Amino acid sequence: MKNTKVFAHRGAAGTHPENTMIAFQEALRVGADGVELDVHLTKDNVPVVIHDETVNRTTNGSGWIKEYYYDDLRKLDAGSWFDEEFTGCTIPSLEEVLQWIAKTSLQINIELKNGIVRYENIEKIVIDLVHKYNLKDRVIISSFNHYSLVEVNKCAPEIETAILFMEGLYKPWEYAKTIGATGLHCYLPVAVPELLEGANIEGMPVRPFVVNEEKHIAALVRGGCSAIITDWPKQAIKIRDNL
Ligand code: G3P
Ligand code: CA
Repeated sequence: MKNTKVFAHRGAAGTHPENTMIAFQEALRVGADGVELDVHLTKDNVPVVIHDETVNRTTNGSGWIKEYYYDDLRKLDAGSWFDEEFTGCTIPSLEEVLQWIAKTSLQINIELKNGIVRYENIEKIVIDLVHKYNLKDRVIISSFNHYSLVEVNKCAPEIETAILFMEGLYKPWEYAKTIGATGLHCYLPVAVPELLEGANIEGMPVRPFVVNEEKHIAALVRGGCSAIITDWPKQAIKIRDNL
């Protein structure tokens, strides 16, 4: 019953500025099994960890990430929008996060944000970094862009991939297999018992997002869900461990 892993969504986004080093460090501190993060490319093709296509919501700057050189992006404050206590946090590069992850035992779910903006070669750039830090066995690459996942599977079949989806796909494990993916990362309302049962029979992990409420966490743990992706890892761990 306690086998469900807890992945900290964008770090510990409930308590810390999302997708920053301090958020990932908090996830480790509270005992999360893994972290989830989002990746875009700068103008000079540096993979950076931020959720939106622009810096507007989560920094003191404005504009598209694809229009920023990495050195300029690093000058932005990515913490004070959340709370002034976090002033001075920067947008991490994926390399910075992976270098740090390599020193821990955390798993890492890298979401390729390759939908609204198409980043040429993002798959290859991310795969090379995963290999550089010898993290292939701890990484899950996910995306709403399933063409990106096909590309990852073609270039690096040794890295686990998972489809992200929002709607109720019928037998998503069958579809996932057709593109070489081995995990189902579904929007929480889609994680109905039929889906969990079917995926469990097929041995395909289900990791719904974003699971913040106690009743949902409890139901998914009881339903044998492989992992939950949550903004509140500390609370989720407590709920899981007390079931
Ligand atoms: O990877 C799960 C979840 O993060 C996908 O949605 O919008 O939070 O990136 P979003
Ligand atoms: Ca994400």
